[in-house]
Amino acid sequence: MNILFIGDVVGSPGRDMVREYVPKLKEKYRPQVTIINGENAAGGKGITSEIYRGFLEVGAQAVTLGNHTWDNREIFEFIDDAKYMVRPANFPEENPGKGIVYLKMNEDEVAVISLQGRTFMQPSDCPFKKADELIAEARKRTPIIFVDFHGEATSEKQAMGWYLDGRVSAVVGTHTHVQTADNRILPGGTAYISDAGMTGPYDGILGVEKEAVIKRFINNLPVRFEVPKTGRNQLNGVYIELNKKTGLAKKIERILINDDQPLTF
Ligand SMILES: [Fe+2]
Repeated sequence: MNILFIGDVVGSPGRDMVREYVPKLKEKYRPQVTIINGENAAGGKGITSEIYRGFLEVGAQAVTLGNHTWDNREIFEFIDDAKYMVRPANFPEENPGKGIVYLKMNEDEVAVISLQGRTFMQPSDCPFKKADELIAEARKRTPIIFVDFHGEATSEKQAMGWYLDGRVSAVVGTHTHVQTADNRILPGGTAYISDAGMTGPYDGILGVEKEAVIKRFINNLPVRFEVPKTGRNQLNGVYIELNKKTGLAKKIERILINDDQPLTF
C-alpha cells in the first residue's frame, strides 16, 4: 500500500502545482491513496467546494484541513456532504464535518485522521487523547491509519510521532509550510516527518508575498498578507510505503519540487 501526501496547498499557485504535478507523481510512485492538505487552498485561508472537487478530480482520495478550516465561509455549506474531507478531530464536538474518514481501496481500508496541535495554536481538545480514541475505533476496521498532525511546534509533533509509534502507519506533520528533513521510520514501524512542507509560491515567505512579511517584521504595523499571483512555485509532500497486512511503514521519502530541484524519474 503506497500513500502520496501533498503538503499544505496555498492559493492558486499551489492549486496549479497540484494540477501539473500530481498526475506526474502518480505516474512515478503509483500510490493507491493520495491525500492533499487543502486548508490554505482558497487564497491562503480555507477551502471552497469547487477546490475540494478539483482535488478529487486530480486523483486525491482525501483532503485534510487545519486551523484555517472555517476561514472560508462556504465550508459551512458543503463540509457535511464532503465525504472525503477531514478536519481536525479535536475541534469541539458540535463542529460540523468529521475528523476521521475511511477510504475503501479494493479489499483494503485506509483510515485518515486529522488532528491539530495545541502549542502556539488556537485552543482545542487534547490531540493525544483524541488520537487514542480514534485509533481504538479505526483498528477495529483496519491497521492502515494515516495521521495528519497540524501543528506549529516540532516538539509537539515529535511527541505525537513517538506516542503513536507502532499504532499507526504514519504521522505526517503539516502547518509550518517548511519541509523538515527528519523523515524516518520510528522503531515501532510508524513513518514520521515533522512537516511535509508547502505547495505554492517558491519565492514568498510561507506562501505569502515576502514584501509584506518583511515590512511587518520591521515596523510591526498591520499589513495584508496576499498570496503572490505570479512567480515561481513549488510542491512539497511525502511518499510512504506500507505493509498492508500490518499497517506498518517500510519507507518514507520526501518530495520537494521547485526550480532548484526539478522532478526526476
Ligand atoms: Fe495551518
